[in-house]
Amino acid sequence: MLELQDISVIFNERTVNEKKALSSVNFQLQKGDFVTIIGSNGAGKSTLFQVISGAVLAKTGKIILNGKDLTSLPEYKRSRFIGRLFQDPLKGTAPSMTIEENLSLASQRGKHFSLKLFSHKHKQEMIDALKSLDLGLENRLEAKVGTLSGGQRQALTLLMATYVTPELLLLDEHTAALDPKTAQKVLSLSSKLIEKHQITTLMITHNMEDALKYGNKTFIMKDGHIIAYLEGETRQKMTVDELIHLYSTSTQDYNDKILLR
Ligand SMILES: Nc1ncnc2c1ncn2[C@@H]1O[C@H](COP(=O)(O)OP(=O)(O)O)[C@@H](O)[C@H]1O
Ligand SMILES: [Mg+2]
Repeated sequence: MLELQDISVIFNERTVNEKKALSSVNFQLQKGDFVTIIGSNGAGKSTLFQVISGAVLAKTGKIILNGKDLTSLPEYKRSRFIGRLFQDPLKGTAPSMTIEENLSLASQRGKHFSLKLFSHKHKQEMIDALKSLDLGLENRLEAKVGTLSGGQRQALTLLMATYVTPELLLLDEHTAALDPKTAQKVLSLSSKLIEKHQITTLMITHNMEDALKYGNKTFIMKDGHIIAYLEGETRQKMTVDELIHLYSTSTQDYNDKILLR
């Protein structure tokens, strides 16, 4: 379970550039919840991920994941149980290392790293996992990751982030830099992995169709606030046009949050 209580983030406090990027964000997720997050540029979506992953610290509030209070835990410790993917396919893998070496590192999440490769049994598991990507990477174990295409690399990053099942997965527009066909492939792969391992997931997207198609909940963000929570039947029946309408007409009164089930 992931719980955020009254989380606020202020950048450049007490300077002329002071910016309240998150204002009293609250929510509670159950294991396996898959939330899509939409909101215009600057709404605070990436800041939300940064505060959850520990890249920035909260000004107020508490973050609790499966009973652990993460609020003041350093980022590297949180990375042991939180997987992250970014828009840039170049982040998250080591380009001068091979596919096998990258996956070997991913398989040691939370342990002391060593550059040992897989034993025979584990190698077969790795090959099976690569096969499931359906990109032919299982035949290229010795290939340097830097030689892969953006889509292949993002699919591999996804596999690495979930190879040891994380307690939480954060996807920050992870398919936005890919061509539409590859983006859909990586998205459906993400959704399959998330479902298979029941990974609690937050996914930021600019694509309204994807926001409704994937996951079981949707949050709408504006000016550092979550202004609407969609789930259940209302979300299932919602059309893209209705979502855009809700998004663009949402009230500026942030105390008046919309909960649609
Ligand atoms: N490290 C930072 N220092 C100062 N301001 C920042 C920093 N990161 C983000 N911001 C500001 O906080 C606001 C929210 O940014 P962000 O979370 O990146 O938005 P989104 O991901 O929704 O586009 C923006 O106004 C942005 O300029
Ligand atoms: Mg962002």
